[in-house]
Amino acid sequence: MEEQIQGLRELIGKEDKFVNSKFISIASGKGGVGKTNFAVNFAYVLANNFRKKVLLIDADIGMANVHILLNSDLKKNIKRLLNGENIENLIVNIKGFDTLFGFSGIDSIAELDDFRIHKLIFQLNKLSQTYDYIIIDNSPGIGEKVISFLRASNTSYILTTPEPTSIMDSYALIKSLYKIYGYSRFKIIVNMCKRKFEEKEVFDKLNFSTNKFLDLNLELAGRLSFSENLEKCVKEKKLVAEIYPSDPYTVDLKNIAAKEVGEPIKEKNQNFWDKVLSFLKQRV
Ligand SMILES: Nc1ncnc2c1ncn2[C@@H]1O[C@H](COP(=O)(O)OP(=O)(O)OP(=O)(O)O)[C@@H](O)[C@H]1O
Ligand SMILES: [Mg+2]
Repeated sequence: MEEQIQGLRELIGKEDKFVNSKFISIASGKGGVGKTNFAVNFAYVLANNFRKKVLLIDADIGMANVHILLNSDLKKNIKRLLNGENIENLIVNIKGFDTLFGFSGIDSIAELDDFRIHKLIFQLNKLSQTYDYIIIDNSPGIGEKVISFLRASNTSYILTTPEPTSIMDSYALIKSLYKIYGYSRFKIIVNMCKRKFEEKEVFDKLNFSTNKFLDLNLELAGRLSFSENLEKCVKEKKLVAEIYPSDPYTVDLKNIAAKEVGEPIKEKNQNFWDKVLSFLKQRV
């Protein structure tokens, strides 16, 4: 067994991993602020408008619902990976990008022995190398899994709405990650904006607090307009970015994507999965 683990360690160490892959986590303090809709439509825009190779991972524990928006089922999910199935068989390709459903299955990580952990890391590393962007849709709040994914990501988009409760909860999430772990790679997205420049007002409030109490300067990634077409699309299990390319929401989304694509990758992220799984193991 020790030899097998050593063999896998060597394989993991040898590969030039993620030279061009960027890991982006989507998170929020408060629930229901539009993360999953943003994650799915953002993946769609990066893949179809910017010709990027994208993997979307549904890491929401309680409410895995990326598959609902994509009108797919959950037959292929990450739990099967833990049972020894090959990762390539679990990828679902819809709408021009790949998706890995139900990362919540990783709950049982504590029960995995070292060999299986290394095998899992090896498979996830190997898979991840082939993408430009890996987008991770998280649960709301400051749960242990969210923190593990965010800490390992190059960038974390924090979604908030103009509601004071949502702004407060975003502050709490940022404060925990920054004060406890020194993590500061946040970008703020203000969703459900109804007025021009509303995103600036919301961002200024949040940034004022992080500046004053944490000595931390945030970055505004952009706004997302309130969209009746989006609500309609959710009900019909369609993607607003696909059906309504000129809807203000889709236009805002493309602006955020253009900014992201235009940014050079500041740092290589060679150990994303090693980090996530070790953070998860530490906490369970
Ligand atoms: N820009 C928007 N305009 C109008 N409605 C929106 C917008 N964004 C999200 N919504 C509404 O909010 C609902 C919740 O969105 P979504 O499921 O994406 O939130 P979430 O943050 O992922 O929730 P959870 O925290 O439960 O995972 C959607 O079903 C939709 O009706
Ligand atoms: Mg969600």
